[in-house]
Order: sequence, then structure tokens, then C-alpha cells
Amino acid sequence: MVETRQNVNLKGFNTFGIEVYCDLLAEINSIEDFRELTGSELYKNSKKLILGGGSNILFTENFKGLVIKNNIKGIFKISEDERSVIVKAMAGEVWHDFVMWCIQFDYAGLENLSLIPGCVGASPMQNIGAYGVEIKELFEELEALDMETGEARIFKKQDCAFGYRESVFKHQYKSRYIIVSVSFRLQKSPKLNTTYGAINAELENMGVKNPSIKDVSQAVIRIRQSKLPDPRVTGNAGSFFKNPEVTASKFSELKDRFDALVAYPLENGRYKLAAGWLIEQCGLKGYEINGAAVHTKQALVLINKGNAKGEDVLALSTYVIKSVSEKFGVILEREVNIL
Ligand code: FAD
Ligand code: EPU
Repeated sequence: MVETRQNVNLKGFNTFGIEVYCDLLAEINSIEDFRELTGSELYKNSKKLILGGGSNILFTENFKGLVIKNNIKGIFKISEDERSVIVKAMAGEVWHDFVMWCIQFDYAGLENLSLIPGCVGASPMQNIGAYGVEIKELFEELEALDMETGEARIFKKQDCAFGYRESVFKHQYKSRYIIVSVSFRLQKSPKLNTTYGAINAELENMGVKNPSIKDVSQAVIRIRQSKLPDPRVTGNAGSFFKNPEVTASKFSELKDRFDALVAYPLENGRYKLAAGWLIEQCGLKGYEINGAAVHTKQALVLINKGNAKGEDVLALSTYVIKSVSEKFGVILEREVNIL
């Protein structure tokens, strides 16, 4: 029997630590639980929100509906050949625990994505990425259930429209499906990706000469711990904005005006700018509105210093967008899901 609680404080269910309430909350531990829930009147009559770790969400008001916290667990090896293995993780697995499970068996590919908060089920939502790797490179397929009809559907890579912090689940299929499992194809002999400058430097710091996937994971963990705030201590949702893409001519114009501009050329001839640099140049590190602040070690991260409300974080983000637009003529787009 799935227990449904009323008027639940969501402070512990979002890494920003924002205190808002939902009308109803149900925690599901299996697909059967979900099916049982969908048969109830309260499911049929409520607006619904699927929640994993709550690490990419900003609540700006109470949620007038049913929150479904996905706790469905399980990791299975589905198949293997000489070179690779397909591993399926259920949506409620903690992402980092899943990465550690893969590393333990020497299944390579996800090590650069160590320590990203949240659950496996949300990983395709924005095609999570870090340190030169995105999940779309390892993604095999996912299984989802239609929230209205309960019908199961398999999504292959070509069905997901993965892009930089993008997928079909953020747009066309927003709120349409609950993702129940995600499968990845991992390699038995690793091709390490240490192109992201800081990884090699960290491996050197660690005194590692011939790195294993475990070493790369450890280096990524150390880098992340040095600049990203730990949500258990300081409320945040990682990068609040995406790094913006600009045309080559906009890049040249900015480079002429700001010699130290941090930018990366893209294959399509455009440039990606480091939004953290743009925000820092506006003098906004540490800038605060009612306890919502720009993180001092990483300006792309907005934090809750304790008692900020969702609307304070949102107001701060609007101020950041305005400041960057006025100084650079570049419009930042929010990465975090605003509710
Ligand atoms: P939630 O916040 O619970 O949900 C996010 C969205 O997905 C919501 O719209 C929700 O409704 C939907 N959703 C969740 N689960 C399901 C499901 N099973 N089916 C359908 N919809 C679902 N992200 C990166 O890409 N790279 C990083 O390096 C990174 N670093 C971070 C560092 C910190 C300190 C923090 C706090 C966040 C960081 N993030 C990063 C963002 C976040 O970790 C990811 O977006 C993560 O995938 C969110 O997972 P979650 O389970 O917490 O999702
Ligand atoms: N920078 C500054 N000042 C700052 C922050 C950054 O000058 O305050 C400059 C630095 O020069 C740095 C460059 O920006 O070299 C890039 O910074 P960093 O390596 O910290 O990465 P990022 O571009 O800020 C992105 C992702 C992160 C991901 C890291 C590592 C986005 C929106 N963010 O951040 O993802 O972990 O790269 O790959 O793409 C997330 O999505 O939540 C997230 C944390």
C-alpha cells in the first residue's frame, strides 16, 4: 500500500533547502507502487511532480498537487560482449552510488561524472555532464511510463534529442513520462578522458602517473569538493545558469573589449562562454538578496545562506541576468527547473 502524506514540508526534498509545502506526497519503491498510485482518485485529480534528489529544482511557491518521490532501486548487468557491458540502473538509485558501483567492477565511462548529486532517473532530463563527458555518450536506452495511460515506452538515444543540458523530456515531453530505469553501455578497457585541464593537474597533485578510472573519479571528486558547495551544508542546485553560446562575431567583439574572456570554440563555429567568469566580472561574487547569494568560490552557483525563499533566489537570478546583459550583451539562460 503506497502511503500518501498531506501538507508535507519539502525543505528536506530539495537541495536549495527551500521551505515550501505540497498538498500530497507519495514515495514509491517499485513500479507496482506507481501503478497502484495511478489507480487512485487523488492521482487522477491532482497536478503531479516527479522528484528525484531535488538537486535541480527551485521551488518558488507551495506545490498545489501530488509530489511523487521516486525511490525505485536496483542495478543490473543486462548483457556483455568482449569489449562492453550494458548496465541498467533503476531511477531511484543515487547517481553517485551508481557511478561507484560501475567503478568497483571496472566498467568505464561514467567516472568523470562522479559526485553529481541526484538520482539516475533525472540524469537524462538535462543530459547531465561534467569534466568533458555527458551521459549521451554512454546512454543505451531508458524505460518510461506515460503518466496518464501508464503505457511503457523505450526511448533510444535518437528519441531523446540530447543536447547541452537538454533533452526531449525538458520540452516536448515535459511532465508526460516518469522515467523508471536508464541503461548505459560501459567499456571493459577504459579510454580515459582527462582532456579537461583541471583533471590532469589534480592527478599530478595526487602523484598518479598511470591513472585508473578510480583515480580519475577521485580527481574529479577532489576538484568538485574544492569549488562546489556541499548541499548538505549550503543550499544550492549546482550551476544556476547554462554557459551561453555566442556567434563568432559576438565572441570577437567581446574578446576585443575583454582580453581575459574565458571561451571555448565549438564544432559548429560558435563559442561557449564561461558564465561564471561573466558573472564574476560584474562584481557579483558574494552579492546577496535576503539570504540568497552568488557563491564566492564559483559565481555560476547561487546559494541559500539559510533562510532564503525561492522568490529571493529567483530575484537574485533575475538581477544576475540583467547585470550580465548590460555589461556583455549576453543573455544567460537558467539551467535549474523553476517551480
Ligand atoms: P530533481 O531535481 O529531483 O528533478 C529534476 C527534474 O527532473 C525535475 O523537473 C523533475 O520533475 C524531473 N525528474 C526527476 N526524476 C524524474 C523521473 N524519474 N522521471 C521523470 N522526470 C523526473 N548537473 C550536471 O549536469 N552536471 C554537474 O556537474 C552538476 N553538478 C551539480 C553540483 C551540485 C552541488 C548540485 C546541487 C547540482 C549539480 N547538478 C549538476 C545538477 C543536478 O545534480 C542534476 O541535474 C541531477 O541530474 C538532478 O537529479 P535529481 O534527481 O536531483 O533531479
Ligand atoms: N570561472 C570564473 N569565475 C567563476 C567561475 C568560473 O572565472 O566564478 C571561469 C574559470 O576560468 C573556469 C571557467 O570559468 O576555468 C569554467 O569554470 P568551471 O570549470 O568551474 O566550470 P563551469 O563552466 O562553471 C560547468 C558545468 C558544471 C560542471 C563543470 C565541470 C554548466 C552550466 N556547468 O561549470 O555543471 O560540473 O563545468 O565540467 O555547464 C551543473 O550543471 O550544475 C554543474 C555544476
